[in-house]
Amino acid sequence: MDKLVIKGGKKLKGIVEISGAKNAALPIMAASLLSNGYSNIKNVPFLRDIMTMGRLLANLGAGFHQEKNRVLINTERIRIFEAPYDLVRTMRASILVLGPLLTRYGRAKVSLPGGCAIGARPINLHLSGLEKMGAEIKLESGYVIAKAKKLKGASIYLDIPTVTGTENLMIAATLAKGVTLIENAAKEPEVTDLANALISMGAKIEGAGGSIIRIEGVHELKPLDYRVIPDRIEAGTFMTIAGITCSDITLKGCSPEHLDATVFKLKEAGIIFESAPEGLRVIGKTRPHSTNVTTMPYPGFPTDMQAQFMALMSISDGTSIIRENIFENRFMHVAELRRMGADISVEGGTATVKGVERLKGAPLMATDLRASASLVVAALSAKGETVIHRIYHLDRGYEKMEEKLKKIGAEIKRVKE
Ligand code: EPZ
Repeated sequence: MDKLVIKGGKKLKGIVEISGAKNAALPIMAASLLSNGYSNIKNVPFLRDIMTMGRLLANLGAGFHQEKNRVLINTERIRIFEAPYDLVRTMRASILVLGPLLTRYGRAKVSLPGGCAIGARPINLHLSGLEKMGAEIKLESGYVIAKAKKLKGASIYLDIPTVTGTENLMIAATLAKGVTLIENAAKEPEVTDLANALISMGAKIEGAGGSIIRIEGVHELKPLDYRVIPDRIEAGTFMTIAGITCSDITLKGCSPEHLDATVFKLKEAGIIFESAPEGLRVIGKTRPHSTNVTTMPYPGFPTDMQAQFMALMSISDGTSIIRENIFENRFMHVAELRRMGADISVEGGTATVKGVERLKGAPLMATDLRASASLVVAALSAKGETVIHRIYHLDRGYEKMEEKLKKIGAEIKRVKE
């Protein structure tokens, strides 16, 4: 296992290239199963989770190859319809093969993803939606076993605007017989990107990005030739880095319009944004001002930015109240930030962060993807050296993080444990 060694306090300057969005690439890769032939997906980040999805597709009989940021998937010889536990347990997004397998091949056996560090993460809304479309679903020894002669269009109301639930159901509806309405759908940009990818395959979809998505089933879909959107959470993470280190960083290739709530809150914290020829310039001028945040489904403040924002608020000039509304256990980074001297108290889903002058470097443990990102944010501004263990969590969602940071002047190195 690798660790990151970071010497904090350096002012950073320069251009950071934002990679493609992991959470758009994953459902789009799964959607390649809807077609027969070679799919070409561009701007795919080189990450553990992408490799895991590739192994999962290969396990079904697909050909999978990633060179740099391009993924090639050949679905001419899909002959297994099972996603095994040992793959699904390493990446919950594996559940995204359920919809395409069921709607294209009429059968699927997918291991239940189980919980993870941040919460129980049930998939009841995925399953009840598919049942409404006529699927017969059984749960047997930790697996979802689903069958359907031919899925049919249905009106589905989601109690919660689940992101992968919306994606699974939208994918399933593209080849179903008739029209499907998904109400209270997730509006995340990654959902819209998936819809655009499906439309490029010949799917009939309207309303993605809004709360009602209408899908009219078609007979067949052609392979993908599609470029994935930039990663808004990576961009948001580098914005908090600019703020906490009082640096001047230009983000190349990011889509600021996907980050309205995050940019709004970072501006409240005193961070300055300017458009520059190379991209979006983000400048941290002073100690961050304290401000409150409540995570909400898109377009609200993203839960995937909560941990990084808390790191920024831990050295703010006042007290900040951070409410986590999406997941029941997404404060794993608090204990680690406290080890650096942060003054944070937690009551249920609410964290009260009293800003301190400066954090101090310490040995830390990464626990989940965004918690590990928040430790990097904190370490870059802390006094002295920080060692972050188990950074395989970080590698799941950030492409070449230490290289991008080194390039703009950070003192950071990866060490084999
Ligand atoms: C997606 O997870 C993202 N993952 C997560 O990003 C992100 O944090 C999350 O959406 C929220 O934005 C991918 O896109 C691969 P949900 P997902 O279903 O779809 C409850 C990261 O850091 N729920 O929108 O699993 C659930 O328990 C990852 O990149 C049900 O109750 O999230 C949670 O409380 C972490 N029943 C809430 O809804 C269901 O059937 C939102 O979950 C489904 C979800």
